[in-house]
Amino acid sequence: MEIVPLAQHHLDQATVLSQAETWPHRLEDWQMLMTLSQGRAALRDGVVIGIALRTDYGPDVSLLNMIIVRQSERGQGIGYKLMSSLMDKVSGRELRLAATKAGVPLYEKLGFESEREIIQCQGEIAPVSLPDRRISPAKPEDTHAIIELDSRFLAADRSALVQWLAKYARLAVVRGERGEVCGYAALRRFGKGQVIGPIQTQSKLQAQSLIRYFAASLAGQFIRIDTDSALGLMPWLEDLGLKCVDTVTRMRKNPKTDPRPAFGLCSQALG
Ligand SMILES: CC(C)(COP(=O)(O)OP(=O)(O)OC[C@H]1O[C@@H](n2cnc3c(N)ncnc32)[C@H](O)[C@@H]1OP(=O)(O)O)[C@@H](O)C(=O)NCCC(=O)NCCS
Repeated sequence: MEIVPLAQHHLDQATVLSQAETWPHRLEDWQMLMTLSQGRAALRDGVVIGIALRTDYGPDVSLLNMIIVRQSERGQGIGYKLMSSLMDKVSGRELRLAATKAGVPLYEKLGFESEREIIQCQGEIAPVSLPDRRISPAKPEDTHAIIELDSRFLAADRSALVQWLAKYARLAVVRGERGEVCGYAALRRFGKGQVIGPIQTQSKLQAQSLIRYFAASLAGQFIRIDTDSALGLMPWLEDLGLKCVDTVTRMRKNPKTDPRPAFGLCSQALG
């Protein structure tokens, strides 16, 4: 077994590995992750048997994500080696991840500690009317304000991700009295349908308005939202037709920042 830098030509096999876990990622979703991350592949006889990514957000924070070892190869330390190989280069940074139940024991061994639960909600969205709040599509000149707001809420700089979303996703903003951006959300293709996230706002009402803004044109379509359990969006999401299908645990190592819980994650991988 050898561990090598993850390359574009490994992504077909990465997609097969994630589909074997019934994760919904398409090849395009892996490609998006690769543009923002670096990774490692564990190879046996040239075949990918394990994978892990690291996404760096500014100088202080990194996320570890998409950690998968083929079922028949588990329990031999491959997951540990993949993680260590990515973590060696960033000692001193705060490390974050969203752990499945299968992942928690490995991450605890690596020094991560559990924090809050993230709820994965999805389903065919019910018809809703447009919100009457000040929601509008983001303009290109809003990107800077969105990056600033996102960094403040996340306590990490993910400007590369927001720029990617500005190019390939739909972005909407909620504005304050003077027209300033005080919240935003994104809608993009992902997995079996579309994801609404990130959703970064100061209040639950603003988050609900942004969700309704997108939902108004999506009735009957498959929508996914990953939301922080602490923010209590769930009963309302159920009324919209989205059911909780799973939970994952936020974990951190070397915590140094104070990120806010998010009404919507970009994805479990990207926070
Ligand atoms: C999580 C996963 C990557 C672990 O890979 P792995 O190669 O089996 O992990 P390792 O063999 O390196 O295990 C490292 C340590 O954690 C422990 N460990 C790993 N998974 C465990 C589990 N489910 N329960 C108990 N202990 C576990 C191992 O015992 C080992 O400790 P040891 O060295 O003292 O024996 C693998 O189970 C997997 O791909 N799961 C499905 C996808 C998934 O959920 N990934 C996590 C996404 S956040």
